[in-house]
Amino acid sequence: MDNKVIKIGLLGLGTVGTGVYKLIGRRSDEMEQKIGANLEIEKILVHNLKKTRHGIEQSLLTDRWEDIIGNEEIRIVIEAMGGIEPARTMILEAIAAGKSVVTANKDLIAEHGRELLEAAREHKVDLLFEAAVAGGIPIIRPLKQCLAANEIDEVVGIVNGTTNYILTKMFEEGMDFGEALAQAQELGYAEADPTADVEGLDAGRKMAIMASAAFHSRVVFDDVYTEGITKISARDVAYAREFDCVIKLLGVARNTPEGIVVGVYPMIIDKNHPLATVRESFNAVFVHGDAVGDTMFYGRGAGEMPTASAVVGDILDVARNMQYGCMGRIGCGCYKELPVKEFGEVKNRFFLRMQVTNEPGVLAQIAKVFGDHKVSIERVVQREAKKMHAELVIGTAAVKEYHMKDAVDALKEMPIVKEISSIIREY
Ligand code: NAP
Ligand code: HSE
Repeated sequence: MDNKVIKIGLLGLGTVGTGVYKLIGRRSDEMEQKIGANLEIEKILVHNLKKTRHGIEQSLLTDRWEDIIGNEEIRIVIEAMGGIEPARTMILEAIAAGKSVVTANKDLIAEHGRELLEAAREHKVDLLFEAAVAGGIPIIRPLKQCLAANEIDEVVGIVNGTTNYILTKMFEEGMDFGEALAQAQELGYAEADPTADVEGLDAGRKMAIMASAAFHSRVVFDDVYTEGITKISARDVAYAREFDCVIKLLGVARNTPEGIVVGVYPMIIDKNHPLATVRESFNAVFVHGDAVGDTMFYGRGAGEMPTASAVVGDILDVARNMQYGCMGRIGCGCYKELPVKEFGEVKNRFFLRMQVTNEPGVLAQIAKVFGDHKVSIERVVQREAKKMHAELVIGTAAVKEYHMKDAVDALKEMPIVKEISSIIREY
């Protein structure tokens, strides 16, 4: 095998694949010094061979997987197609054929990470996925390597660029949700189906991957409680602003004595908190470890070149491992089997906005429902009292999720409650 040229098969030439192609080309002069070999993209698998692709030699393109899996000279496969199948099968076949794999695919790692990492260990090859979480921000390598001496108890972050972009535009420019989403799609931040972004599923997958790496226990996407930002209204934005806060879609993962807690939901957060200052498509991740204390990682979480930065960084690591014959050095770190705590038991503070009948005694009846369900009230604001209706905003103390749910279910049954307009957790 020629160790001076490392041949690559690239799967997918969309936002990420195109960035990877460009970045490998941009760095080609320095590869010899960086990794002692040159990288060469030998074949690129695409879905539609007829699509116009500027600056790409047509002879590189194929729509036949056999052209990559059957080529023994290809030693690294980069998966930038997305989705579960055929990506999963292709990666397993590549690993079985002794090829190392770099992927940006969080859907796949969040669901089948264990299977893929075990296959990589069995075949003594690398499987790296830095780009799968928070795009260009280094976070998987820090969790698995740089912070390996720590007992990590908390990972909190803004890990979806599309929703952070939308919320920023809603807050700063009064843009409506649809317009801001269309801009995020145009900029290449959004997933093929943006439901995954706006409903918190994309962030949920990233939190599952980070929780697994941080807490050494396999956390899968199904373990993550997710809520998106589609119900956030201009009125919620106005209240948050009035309280000197902003609204962010946060991923929260904690290792508690009762088990791992992991969820993604919009939160009202003080505007001076470092996470509140993360704007547009930027992402940020806080990690707390017992030895290091607080750390924060910040950068671009999506887009062509930031994501390519993470993918190509992984390729360089694989190439170095090949030069030194130490493939499969950093594999699966899930040597514990910590339970995932039931989400209903998790405590949160809530902001609840509702429309009620405007008459004496209403507030007392509502306060009683909260009290009956062990929900302690910290703040009450009444706005827009019209002749018949008033808007009430209630802030609660930290209460168990299921107590809050029971209280809200009871409120919905009351004739004096016309509408529960929004329920948002507070950081
Ligand atoms: P994309 O723009 O939709 O590109 C997907 C590419 O894969 C296209 O070139 C498509 O071919 C090809 N493809 C899809 N299915 C295929 C199949 N069955 N056979 C052959 N080719 C196939 O997607 P992307 O935004 O680059 O995302 C790729 C992956 O990176 C996803 O897992 C995503 O979650 C992840 N990621 C994306 C970002 C980002 O900012 N976009 C950031 C981090 C991670 P055609 O060109 O012929 O249609
Ligand atoms: N759709 C994702 C985002 C891309 O908006 O963050 C990066 O995973």
